[in-house]
Amino acid sequence: MNWFYNLIRKTPTPPFDPSFTKVCLVTGSSSGIGLETAKLMYSSGFNIVLACRNVKKAEAVKNDFEKIEFPSRNSAMKPQITILEMDLADFDSVSNACKEFGNAFDRLDVLVNNAGTWNGFSKDNLIGITKQGFSVTYQTSHLAHFYLTRELLPFIINSSKITNKPGRIINVSSGLHLYAMNQINKKSDSLSDLEWEKRMVNEHGDNFNSQLYQYMYVKLLNVMFAKHLSRMYTDKEILSFSCHPGPISSDFYRDWSSLLKFSLNFMTIPSVYGAFTSCYLATSEDPIILSNNGNYFDNCSIAKYHKLVDDVEQCKLIWEKSEKQLNDL
Ligand SMILES: NC(=O)c1ccc[n+]([C@@H]2O[C@H](COP(=O)([O-])OP(=O)(O)OC[C@H]3O[C@@H](n4cnc5c(N)ncnc54)[C@H](OP(=O)(O)O)[C@@H]3O)[C@@H](O)[C@H]2O)c1
Repeated sequence: MNWFYNLIRKTPTPPFDPSFTKVCLVTGSSSGIGLETAKLMYSSGFNIVLACRNVKKAEAVKNDFEKIEFPSRNSAMKPQITILEMDLADFDSVSNACKEFGNAFDRLDVLVNNAGTWNGFSKDNLIGITKQGFSVTYQTSHLAHFYLTRELLPFIINSSKITNKPGRIINVSSGLHLYAMNQINKKSDSLSDLEWEKRMVNEHGDNFNSQLYQYMYVKLLNVMFAKHLSRMYTDKEILSFSCHPGPISSDFYRDWSSLLKFSLNFMTIPSVYGAFTSCYLATSEDPIILSNNGNYFDNCSIAKYHKLVDDVEQCKLIWEKSEKQLNDL
């Protein structure tokens, strides 16, 4: 079947970096798209940081990666694999992870903000609210990544000084961000139209519709945040992008009903295909990539995005509001 997917999806191979000096951190690399992204980046010669909430799962991933051969190399010479325990639904954990990163590295060449959740409600968290009082979906998919990115910016800029090339940030969003809308009047000319205040704590509750609306909203924030970063930094310091990974078969739909999961078998493709656009954005020297800082991609090509992304003030507001939320903690 892969021959078919290869026909419909672009399958770029990231350029191999024989120096093994570059560092790439991928959040949510214990499964699905994040795992495949980390594997591809590792195979391309990047020292990889597996930023995961479940250390046992991360250790299994590390063991698996260690079996990857680098034929032209002495077997002792392989990129490093570091596990960073990080639960995005808890800022204390993210803060510790950032400190640990700083103790181990002085540079970060690529940050892939990949982890995300469809549904913040689980048997371990029946109210879908984090320790810090935010909706799990909002904190995991946006606010914790905002915090992580802000803390790691000096390391990304340092990499640009060392390499004379911009460090890169990739936000894994979703094509569904295009449909972000207000549940009541479906207008979305501003973040307040999208009920920003209610979504922070998911006042809409736990049903399929509100999970979908919540998800579309946070995925829009991912695209707007990448765009705002591109406006804050020069192309020489940082390139930031967002992308849709494609309709991917992964654990993402774990909470869906058996019938919905069964129907997904006919609509989704293997996880590895979900890693291609992120890895392409993380490594490509294609002028199309280099001249499209801040843009949103799907299947390794520029794609249509939500109109709010072009609104400079609204994107700036995300930074300001997210900073305030963190400062108020
Ligand atoms: N699959 C699709 O069709 C699709 C389509 C569009 C966009 N996306 C996006 O792609 C990204 C990856 O999704 P996926 O399909 O690979 O799903 P997945 O298999 O469920 O992987 C999600 C990853 O995020 C991690 N994660 C979840 N909550 C976390 C938390 N609180 N702290 C730290 N890590 C956490 C998970 O860790 P555990 O292993 O511990 O659960 C897992 O490693 C998401 O941002 C999603 O929105 C997916």
